[in-house]
Amino acid sequence: MRTTVGIIGGGPAGLLLGRLLDNAGIDNVVLERRDRAYVEQRQRAGILEQQTADTLRAAGAGARMDREGLVHHGIELRFDRGAHRVDFPSLTGGRGVVVYAQTEVVKDLIALRLADGGPLCFDAEVRAVEGVTSDRPVIHYRHEAEDRTLTCDYVVGCDGFHGVAREAVPASVRTTYERDYPYSWLGILAQAAPVYDELIYAHSARGFALASVRSPTVSRLYLQVPNGTDPAAWPDERVWDELDARFALDDDPTWKLERGPVTAKAVLPMRSHVTEPMRHGRLFLAGDAAHIVPPTGAKGLNLAAADVTVLARALIHQRDTGSADLLDAYSDTCLRRVWRAEHFSYLMTTTLHTDPAHSPFDTRLQLAQLARLATSPHAAADLADNYTGLPLPR
Ligand code: FAD
Ligand code: DHB
Repeated sequence: MRTTVGIIGGGPAGLLLGRLLDNAGIDNVVLERRDRAYVEQRQRAGILEQQTADTLRAAGAGARMDREGLVHHGIELRFDRGAHRVDFPSLTGGRGVVVYAQTEVVKDLIALRLADGGPLCFDAEVRAVEGVTSDRPVIHYRHEAEDRTLTCDYVVGCDGFHGVAREAVPASVRTTYERDYPYSWLGILAQAAPVYDELIYAHSARGFALASVRSPTVSRLYLQVPNGTDPAAWPDERVWDELDARFALDDDPTWKLERGPVTAKAVLPMRSHVTEPMRHGRLFLAGDAAHIVPPTGAKGLNLAAADVTVLARALIHQRDTGSADLLDAYSDTCLRRVWRAEHFSYLMTTTLHTDPAHSPFDTRLQLAQLARLATSPHAAADLADNYTGLPLPR
């Protein structure tokens, strides 16, 4: 098989890139290792920055998001058993976020692709990429029990953190920056109406907790747990009791979550990771294939969307003008935004979680920082600016 852009991975990065290229009339093929049901059901992120929502709309993939997504204009910070709201529009000149699950973004993009887009092959596992510094790189993949090849002008690795594309950048030109965290998240999905209008990020002596939503009847909740925690050690009632304890308020002692059947439960490790550069020859890395953030602040999916938006523009520019300027600038353009998000995610994570190595002094510093966010419009504006997402470079 032959195509202009070979896309490895049918997660949000690969599917959105495919959509943007389809819309521009650039021939592309998406190869996805898993089956459709698996990709559509994988529970992950839930918050779309204004910029990401706008990109989906402009790509013709925003109709259901606009009908079913929930627009949020702020978040609540809970600490010292008190609640403090950060109002986004007044701090950012009108920006907000859309609560719309990654599963739904992926379903929408797959449906569009299958209806009127280029090829999308499920159960197609890429094994290797070769010739990325030649002008005809080749993707080797396995599909329907056969070894196959896809010859491309460009290859884009959208294959997530455990993919193969990153390995096609020789170790001699690749630099990796990493940080692990001494805690994980236990995430649940529950058939329970959220009793809160906006997401709650809670710092407590018992550890971090986050209350998010998926719909008016489905709650998404997270608890900080030690690394290596077995979800089986957390029966549903223990999870609900612990969430209530971490969200407890002194001036509203009756505040409790609405409980309901738990339909998913998993432990998610956390890490920060950046691979530089994000391009080698005709291979481009996008999304989790190039960078990971800890989830606090919900940047992962949004960074993936920003990367492929920048890349699609660069590929269209090359096709229309013959100039490779934007492709040459791709890695630097993305990395500026990536490092901003790395810093924001790191700061949100380390300010809100209880680190087992922390002294009481460190905890007082966290509380001082949270108090500053709650009382200073300058500090709150910085949080709101980063949370709602920075504009893409023109
Ligand atoms: P992915 O979504 O990982 O997609 C990569 C795709 O490539 C997958 O479909 C995979 O099957 C496919 N693939 C891999 N290898 C191959 C191969 N060899 N051949 C073909 N296909 C391949 N972010 C948040 O903001 N909030 C959250 O709560 C949150 N929770 C998360 C929970 C988990 C368990 C994980 C892993 C991530 C979470 N994230 C969260 C991050 C966010 O979901 C990711 O940043 C986002 O999925 C990135 O999209 P992507 O398309 O780059 O990568
Ligand atoms: C969600 C995940 C996050 O990491 C976050 O900061 C906010 C919301 C979510 O899954 O809804």
